[in-house]
Formats: sequence, C-alpha cells, structure tokens
Amino acid sequence: MPVDLGNTKPLAWDSADLDADTRAMLDNLQPNILQPHTREHLSVLFVHFGDGADGRRFLRSLVPLMKSARKHLEEVRAFRESATPGTVYVGVGISKAGYLALGHATNKFTDNAFKSGMKRRKDTLSDPPVGDWEIPYQKEIHAVILIGDATKAPVTAARAKVVELLPATAGILGEETGLAQRNPEGKGIEHFGYVDGRSQPLFLADQVAEEKGVNWNPFFPLSHILAADPLAPKPDQHFGTYLVFRKLEQNVRAFRQAEKDLADSLGLTGEDRERAGAMLVGRFRNGTPLRLHGKPSSDGWPTQNDFSYRDDPGGKCPVSAHIRKTTPRETRDGGLERGGVMMARRGQTYGTRTDNPWDDAPPETRPTGGVGLLFMAFNSSLQDQFEFMQQAWANDPDFPEPGTGQDPIIGQGKRTVEVRFPESWGSTKLSPPQKQIPQTVTMKGGEYFFMPSLAYLKSL
Ligand code: HEM
Repeated sequence: MPVDLGNTKPLAWDSADLDADTRAMLDNLQPNILQPHTREHLSVLFVHFGDGADGRRFLRSLVPLMKSARKHLEEVRAFRESATPGTVYVGVGISKAGYLALGHATNKFTDNAFKSGMKRRKDTLSDPPVGDWEIPYQKEIHAVILIGDATKAPVTAARAKVVELLPATAGILGEETGLAQRNPEGKGIEHFGYVDGRSQPLFLADQVAEEKGVNWNPFFPLSHILAADPLAPKPDQHFGTYLVFRKLEQNVRAFRQAEKDLADSLGLTGEDRERAGAMLVGRFRNGTPLRLHGKPSSDGWPTQNDFSYRDDPGGKCPVSAHIRKTTPRETRDGGLERGGVMMARRGQTYGTRTDNPWDDAPPETRPTGGVGLLFMAFNSSLQDQFEFMQQAWANDPDFPEPGTGQDPIIGQGKRTVEVRFPESWGSTKLSPPQKQIPQTVTMKGGEYFFMPSLAYLKSL
C-alpha cells in the first residue's frame, strides 16, 4: 500500500500494523522533520562541490553519522521513559545548484521556488538585493549540513568528522552557530524575548494525543510536509521535504524601543504596557496568547494553543499581530482551506547575549545586531507554504483586510500604511491611525534545499 500522505488520521508511527511502505518511509526519512530534534547547540555548514563524483562520495560517507526518523522517535521515547540521552542529529539538504553539481537532472522536482533558488525569488519576497546579503549566501551553495544536540561536545565531535570527510575538491563557504536561548521557566525564546516554537503542525498520533484542543486542531496530514524523493530508488517509499533557510538578524534595541513607543502613543499604563509588545507578536513574552488573556497568564500553562480567531475581530489579538498574520486560524483547521500554508518551523537562535533577553531592562542596553534567528522550516511546497506566507500574508499590508499593515516582525516592503490598535484588551474602540513600527528584522541571506531520503544518499 503506498504511503497515505493525505491520511486524515495522525500517523501511529510505532503501531505493529504499519504497512511496509510507511515503515520504509520512516526508516529512510531524515529526523527533525516529523518531530523537532533537540538542538540547543547547532552547527550549520554550507558546502560547495567542486567535483560531482567527490560530492556524491562525500554525501554517501555522511550516512553512517545520520539516523532515521524512526530511530529519532525511538530515542525521544527512551528519553521520556528513562532519561536516556539521544544521539547527535546530522541532517543534509541539497540545493538545486547542488543537484546539478552532483550530476543529477532536477526536472523531477515539482517545486518551482526550489528550482529557482532563493536568489531568483528575492523580488517576489521583497528581499534585500543579493549584494547586501552576507558573503557566503551570495555564493552558489550546494548543500547544507545541520549538526545539532542538547550539549556542545557531540556537536563539536560530529562537526569535526564531517569536515574530515570533506573532499579536497569541496569547500565550506560559510558556517552558522546556533545557540538556544531560554527564559527562567526553561522555555525556548527568540532574541526579542518571546517564547517561540510553540505552535506547530503535528503529524504523529502521540503528539496529537498530548495536545487535544476544541478550538484549534494542530494535526496536519503528512502531505503538508513530505514530498516523494524523486531521485531515490523507490520514490513511493522514500520521502524528503523542502527546507527554507533564512538568516534573519534582529535589532533588539530597535524592537524594544518600538514596544515602548507604541505603549506611549497608545497611552498604556502600568501592567497594561506589556500589551504593546504582545499586540505586535500575538503572545506575551511568556507565551500567553493575547487571544485568550489581556495580561500574561501565570496559571502554569501560559503557552496555550487551543484558540481560534473566529470570535475576535481584532480587539483582543490585532489582525496585524505576527502569529495572526502568519496563521489566521479562521476555521478549526485554519490554514487548510487556503491550501495548507502551515510549515513545520525548526528555527534556531544565533548569537550570544550579555544581557537577559527576557527581562525588562531598557532598550539602550540591548544589542542592535549580531543576534537573530536561523529561520528554518520544512514544507511539501515552498511556493504554497513559506513563500505564500511571507509574500501574500506577512508582506501584504492589505491582508487580511485593508489597513492591516505589514507583519510587524517579519514584514518586508515599505511600511506606509497607518495602523490602529484596540485601546484596551477586547475593546472595539480603536486608536487613531499611527505609523507602523520600523522594520527590525533583516534578511541576511538564505537558500532553498531538499532534505533527501537516506536511501538516496546511500545510493550515491
Ligand atoms: C526573527 C524572526 C522571527 C521572530 C522573532 C519570530 C517570532 C515568533 C514568535 C515569538 C512566535 C510565537 C510562538 C509560537 O506561537 O510558536 C512565532 C510564531 C510563528 N511564526 Fe515567527 N518569528 C520570526 C520569523 C518567522 C518567519 C520568517 C515566519 C514565516 C514566514 C514565521 C512564522 C510563524 C508562524 C507560522 C508562527 C506560529 C503561528 C501560530 O500557529 O499561531 N516566523 N514567531
């Protein structure tokens, strides 16, 4: 039986009744796709192949360092049951230019964004000119190697092995080092100080069982994330996914100043001042969704995810907030009716901080650069998911309605539209129109990759 990508039931990956094709899929799929891999520490290597045969041998030689999605899921379970630590994550993505350098035709890939490469999509996405990207990203990147773990030592060791395997004809064009940030509650946060990575599409039965909701269904079919690996020995058993990688620098000082200015111009006082930032993100710093609470919840479960925006025209969570622009949640299966836009976000913060990203210290004490997000997300279609979300939603000042403005966090393009915010939480009374906050996230470069099946890598 072919793998049922459209199955409307979450995948019971550990079931004894699993058909042979689905088993083969799990044994050949890379980890970190169906479920995030722990990666407090991450090394990202961008590689260029000078010689196709050497490049193929190199990729094949990485397979013994890699594990399958099934092995990863078993490790996650063992960690939960007996705190047994898992093994290091080594992931491989290949760009269109990379496949060509390896001597493969790319006509069997269906995704046009992937086949163009990110540089040629910059106008569609309103990205900065390629000449302004950091140097490694201006070059022709053939492959990305992701190496991640809960601690630093295994990453350093696996990175050294990868570098050792690199043939003389290949080179490392650039490298990023990801380092997770956490708040005092231990939750993963991004550099503006907000809990991140909370809302995700879920594919597996055990994950979905843990996050049952009545207003929002986090389950999405595998068709959302998997694409047949067209160059693998058996494309009906061997799957991969498209990776979007973007280095997004965050000007934390400017963002914290913008939060303050917004609180001032709306006349917010006392505790209510925190609502300014929450109206930009859609959640308070500790993860509390503005849709459900007017102030940070301390009920022990602040990072709730069971909500939709059906009964909130924007008085609680403004329609312009980052999480609302990028996931409108209009129906219980929000996003699906628009072609299934939600992606599996697997980003990682980069850069170190001498201040505490989560606290209330003044903007002047915050970094203006050198820190940000290595934005990574898996898609079955880059065009219908990442690109659609960035272009048709985040960058469009008229989405979901005229006068919404760009996404305050990631919107690109001139921010000329004036915007309005509810005067108090849940109020239909809106502020007078005011300037949007300045853009505080800058794209420094990126690329599109396909994360092939292990079967493909072994076949090289
Ligand atoms: C530096 C850049 C970024 C920052 C600081 C940022 C920050 C955040 C934060 C704090 C959340 C809330 C946590 C959660 O609900 O999981 C979030 C959620 C989200 N972000 Fe971002 N983000 C960034 C880039 C992006 C990009 C480039 C995209 C897509 C094009 C994106 C799409 C999303 C989506 C889809 C959600 C989940 C919304 C939901 O399901 O409710 N983000 N982001």
